[in-house]
Amino acid sequence: MKNIVILISGSGSNMAAIVRTAQTQQWAHRLNAQVSAVISNKAEAAGLAFAKEHGIATAVIDHKAFAGEPQPREAFDAALMAEIDTHQPDLVVLAGFMRILTPSFVAHYAGRLINIHPSLLPAFPGLNTHARALDMGCKFAGATVHRVTTELDHGDILAQAVVPVLADDTADTLAARVLTQEHLIYPKVVAQLLAA
Ligand code: GRF
Repeated sequence: MKNIVILISGSGSNMAAIVRTAQTQQWAHRLNAQVSAVISNKAEAAGLAFAKEHGIATAVIDHKAFAGEPQPREAFDAALMAEIDTHQPDLVVLAGFMRILTPSFVAHYAGRLINIHPSLLPAFPGLNTHARALDMGCKFAGATVHRVTTELDHGDILAQAVVPVLADDTADTLAARVLTQEHLIYPKVVAQLLAA
């Protein structure tokens, strides 16, 4: 059995898309794969409820609990790795996971760590991608699935989706249009990597 562990911080709609397509398109069955766990750094992450309802193990590792440690990022990542590794993951999927990861975390999951970013990388790494695309007058926007390296929002590009920017777009309307595409490309990449 191939194990997928998904990390979230918020609504988890990309995580839900992966779980849904794994079932409805039957690739989980075909590839003998399963979403083994959904882990969040925030107890209030809405996606945790969806995961529980679908019988998926969940865990919360609150990054704030490590604030007093001499090296809080390292301590948080070590705890996160320990939790992830109980599921023996073939793939660790970042889906709206809003933490910068340490080099040791990235090295530990080398070759099996991917992220989705709501821009056409290498344009607009970091936050507020849709507002920045609108400010620049971009005519197209989109999302990128990429391998994770120690440099934020870099790493080999595995898939991209492009959407038009419309004249009356706000950051929210553009984000919603991009998100519908994210839900299509992310599950596809997950299935492709597990099949390889
Ligand atoms: C998505 O736009 C994703 O590209 C970015 O954070 C957002 C997460 O949304 N990394 P969700 O939690 O999957 O709904």
